[in-house]
Parts: sequence; C-alpha cells; structure tokens
Amino acid sequence: MSEEKKVSSNVVWHQATVDRQARETMNGHKSVILWFTGLSGSGKSTLAHAVEEKLHELKCRTYVLDGDNIRHGLCGDLGFSDQDRVENIRRIGEVAKLFLESGVISLTAFISPFRADRDNVRHITSDEDFFEIYCKCSLDICESRDVKGLYKKARAGEIKEFTGINSPYEEPLNPEVTVDTGTETLEESAEKVLNLLIERGIIQR
Ligand code: ADX
Repeated sequence: MSEEKKVSSNVVWHQATVDRQARETMNGHKSVILWFTGLSGSGKSTLAHAVEEKLHELKCRTYVLDGDNIRHGLCGDLGFSDQDRVENIRRIGEVAKLFLESGVISLTAFISPFRADRDNVRHITSDEDFFEIYCKCSLDICESRDVKGLYKKARAGEIKEFTGINSPYEEPLNPEVTVDTGTETLEESAEKVLNLLIERGIIQR
C-alpha cells in the first residue's frame, strides 16, 4: 500500500531472528511466488495444483492460494468491479509476500486481469522472487469448456463484469513462462514450470 494510503501510525517493524534464509536452508529449497494468471477456465488452478503435486513429491514446502477459495474468506467482501479486483490482488500479493518470508513456495491462481497489479506484486517483492506464469488460452476455448457454466450466464447477461466478456484482461508482456493451456497437455505445462525452477536454482530434482 502506498505511504499516503496508510492509516496506521506509530508501528515499528519487528525484525525476525529466524529469517527467510534460515527457513530456506532448513527446507532445502528457496522460496518463490509462482503467479498463475489467465482467463477464467484457462486452467490456472489445475496447473497450479499439478505443479504443487510435483513439488510435494520433491519434498518442497508449498501452498496454493486459489481465487475461488480465497474469495470465500479473506476476500469474501470483494466483488468483481475493477476496484475490487485491484484490492483482491493487492491482498493476495501481500499474503504471497508473507509466504515468501516463511520459506514456502506459494502458487497463486487468480485471473489478476490488470498488468499494473501484477507488476505491483513483482515490485513489493523482486524479479528473483516473482515468476509470472501466463496460462494462455483463447476466450473461445475457455468459453467452450465453461466448466463452471459462468460464461453462459455472462452471455445471458446474468453476470456483469465477466472477464473476457465485459471486463478486460491485460495479457502479460514479459512473463517468465507462457504455457499454452489450450493446446499443451497438463504434464507438458507443469514440466515447463518445474524446469524453470530448476534452471533458476530454486529447487533441485
Ligand atoms: S480476479 O479478477 O479478482 O483476479 P479471481 O481470480 O479472484 O478474480 O476470481 C475469479 C473466479 O471467480 C473465476 O474463476 C470465476 O469462477 C469466479 N467469478 C465470478 N464472477 C466473476 C466475474 N464477474 N469475472 C470473473 N470471474 C468471476
């Protein structure tokens, strides 16, 4: 949150003695944020969980933060206006940052439609900590899958501000990975993400 928006004063940061590096050493891997972004139905959650399973097998500490789940609790007070989506992603960014400090590999699966909000999470962490993974899938394919029946409702005018129909999605310009979830198999996409983590020295196989 920007300095001018902060309302809490007289609060002083307490430096932990058990820090991120100590936790990473104990875990045997680095922590990182894997930020999955894409249209509803593009396979973000499915891929995030598939990657998590692979990491779990490698004995890595992980946690998936999933849009539909988080909107039942922490973000249950938010709707789908642009303003509420901005706040949704701001909160998730802060939560993911805490996970980073805790030594955990967090995998976030949110549409996160606005470039500026995703960039903001990158900026409150760093390029080394934040991997943007674009789940690229055409609107046609997402709509034809319509797993939750929401596109049908949006087309019928029952859902306002539905991403891709009457609310925007801004594609990442420079994601760390693009997975073509419309054509690749789940295994291929998951391996792409795993390989990146190995190349960058986050985990070892
Ligand atoms: S975000 O835009 O703020 O990042 P988020 O990922 O948390 O969205 O939630 C998206 C999920 O909420 C979708 O997968 C879908 O199941 C559901 N949903 C309900 N209404 C909408 C809407 N108007 N636009 C997009 N998704 C919606």
